[in-house]
Amino acid sequence: MVSDGTPDGPGPVIPQSGLLYGQRDHWAATFSANPDMYGTDPSEPAVAAATRFARAGITDVVELGAGQGRDTLYLARRGFHVHALDYAPGAVETIRAKAEAAGATELVRADRHDVRDPLPLADRSVGACYSHMLFCMALTTPELQRLAEEVRRVVRPGGLVVYTARTTEDAHFGAGIPRGEDMYEHGGFIVHFFGRALVERLAHGFELLDVGELTEGQLPRRLCQVTMRVPPS
Ligand SMILES: C[S@@+](CC[C@H](N)C(=O)[O-])C[C@H]1O[C@@H](n2cnc3c(N)ncnc32)[C@H](O)[C@@H]1O
Repeated sequence: MVSDGTPDGPGPVIPQSGLLYGQRDHWAATFSANPDMYGTDPSEPAVAAATRFARAGITDVVELGAGQGRDTLYLARRGFHVHALDYAPGAVETIRAKAEAAGATELVRADRHDVRDPLPLADRSVGACYSHMLFCMALTTPELQRLAEEVRRVVRPGGLVVYTARTTEDAHFGAGIPRGEDMYEHGGFIVHFFGRALVERLAHGFELLDVGELTEGQLPRRLCQVTMRVPPS
C-alpha cells in the first residue's frame, strides 16, 4: 500500500502549484503507479454499509469516488447494483475491467464524473449513496453542500446515505500545507478534514442517523462514518 495524505507511504510529487484542480491528475498518476493502492479487500465502512443497505431492502447504490473499485466489487459481490463514479482518468476503466474479470458486468456500471458537477442520475432514482473518503477530498464547503443537495435529489425518499471523511482528530489535520478552510496538503494530496459542525451542515435536509468513528491504514487515518436517511415523503 502507498501513502497519500490518505494512503500509507510517499506518493508521486507534484508542483506546489498543483491546487484543487490539479488533484484529478495526481490521483490518476498515483493509481497508475500503484495498482490496488488500498488493497483488494473491501473497506470496513463498505462491509457495514452493505449490511445496513441490505437490512433496509435496498438493492442499488451509487458510489462516489470509487477509486480502483475495492468497495465497488465488494458491493457487487453482495448482490447490489452499483453505479461507481470517479473523476480520475483510468479509474473507471480499472473498475470496468475488474467487473468483467469477476463476471459482474450486469451489476457494475462505472462512469467518469467530477462530483463538483451535478450527479448524472435522475431524481429519486437510487436506493442508497455510498462514499468512502470522497467527501474529504479537495472540495470546498460550498462544493460539499451542493454535492449533499445532489445526493438528496438522486436518492429515493427513505433511502440511505453512508459517507466517510477524515476528521480534525487525524494526525495530518493542521499539518502540511494549508489550502484554505480545513484543507491541508500532504504528499501532493489535499484533504478536507471534517469536524462535527461540517457533518451537521451537510446533513441539512436529511435525517442524521449516526456518526461513528473508525481508523484505517498505518497513520492511521482517523475517520468519521456518517449515516443519513432521505426523509420518507
Ligand atoms: C481517498 S480515494 C478513495 C477511493 C475509494 N473510495 C477507496 O476507498 O478505495 C478518493 C477518490 O476520490 C476521487 N475523487 C477526488 N475528488 C473527486 C471529484 N471531485 N470527483 C470525483 N472523484 C473524485 C479520487 O480520484 C479517488 O479515487
